[in-house]
Amino acid sequence: MTTLGTPLSAHATKVMLLGSGELGKEVLIALQRLGVETIAVDRYENAPGQQVAHHARTITMSDPEQLRALIEQERPHLVVPEIEAIATPMLESLEAAGTVRVIPTARAARLTMDREGIRRLAAETLGLATSPYRFCDSLDELQAAIDGGIGYPCVVKPVMSSSGKGQSKIDGPADVQAAWDYAMAGGRVSKGRVIVEGFIDFDYEITLLTVRAKGPDGQTETHFCEPIGHKQVAGDYVESWQPQRMSPLALQRARDIAQSVTSDLGGQGLFGVELFVKGDSVWFSEVSPRPHDTGLVTLATQNQSEFELHARAILGLPVDTGLRTPGASAVIYGGLEGSGLVFDGVDEALRVPRTDIRLFGKPESFVKRRMGVVVAHDQDVEVALANAKLAASKVTPRLP
Ligand SMILES: Nc1ncnc2c1ncn2[C@@H]1O[C@H](COP(=O)(O)OP(=O)(O)OP(=O)(O)O)[C@@H](O)[C@H]1O
Ligand SMILES: [Mg+2]
Repeated sequence: MTTLGTPLSAHATKVMLLGSGELGKEVLIALQRLGVETIAVDRYENAPGQQVAHHARTITMSDPEQLRALIEQERPHLVVPEIEAIATPMLESLEAAGTVRVIPTARAARLTMDREGIRRLAAETLGLATSPYRFCDSLDELQAAIDGGIGYPCVVKPVMSSSGKGQSKIDGPADVQAAWDYAMAGGRVSKGRVIVEGFIDFDYEITLLTVRAKGPDGQTETHFCEPIGHKQVAGDYVESWQPQRMSPLALQRARDIAQSVTSDLGGQGLFGVELFVKGDSVWFSEVSPRPHDTGLVTLATQNQSEFELHARAILGLPVDTGLRTPGASAVIYGGLEGSGLVFDGVDEALRVPRTDIRLFGKPESFVKRRMGVVVAHDQDVEVALANAKLAASKVTPRLP
């Protein structure tokens, strides 16, 4: 049985989000609706999620001592990582000591915090189909890996990076040096390690949102959302839509892969499983043990958004992954550097039929920073996508 408390009382159910960006903000709103006491942690003040939580804390989450001190001081029932750059070995020891429960598990947070842990698990332990890959610590090793079988074209990514940072495609020998330099400049920590992957010439790519939630008898059940198609530009998501049409065989293979990797990672919560599809062939790419940016579309399309699903699953509540209507999302970038932006044209945007908007409230903008998103629904997914893009184009961020 799940029992929930009253926030700000002695018997509050307390949840701490590690990372309070736009995805964390929606998880926090979902938790607030259930009367959960929320603690929003980020590395800077007034992060989006901190604006909607009971408590805001600002620390360096990759610093194990700062992380331990905060968790021991706040004593949340659940710690919910929303970003990758966290001192996950500390989470593992706090979980092992019984101090806190980490969502979905501390091990999952550690394995997915860099590309190596999850890739080796998926390809080498679970035997899932992935792109061919090698890990390299120098330009020489990178060249040797390409010459030794990865070949051209290929993709180079820092092992610690997200949203396409430091990532580039290599089409021939002339690009290798530039790709290495770019990866060194774009990685989160300058350890210098990269993954080089053979380029998969897919027809389309999807995020398969997969939820591990408690069933009526207390056992964990796996639920799948309808597949989300998306378009990435420079490794960053710009549009998504749901459902992505797939052959029945490709869909079954996608679910089998998602089932395999999420059941190994374990725990409860929602996962974003990224897959490449060509015909009936499916490759595993990566997985987030938390809501996924391309899943923002579910705010418009599902009975329960990916954020509500995550909130429910981690609290031990039942989930409904059903699609209510097809729909799409389109990202609004800052387009400029500055703080305290204003957004012109929100009224014009929302005059586009069946659209809605989220402005994340980020205090600082830069050119490629995601500041908002438009979601749209329509019986025709193409119409929804066109409307989402049209509405997003009507919003103009500017300096006041
Ligand atoms: N081996 C590959 N073959 C073809 N395309 C690829 C390959 N690896 C990555 N891509 C393209 O680059 C995108 C980003 O790659 P990936 O998901 O690995 O990086 P990321 O920085 O973690 O992105 P995000 O954090 O936004 O998910 C993929 O969604 C895909 O479009
Ligand atoms: Mg990705």
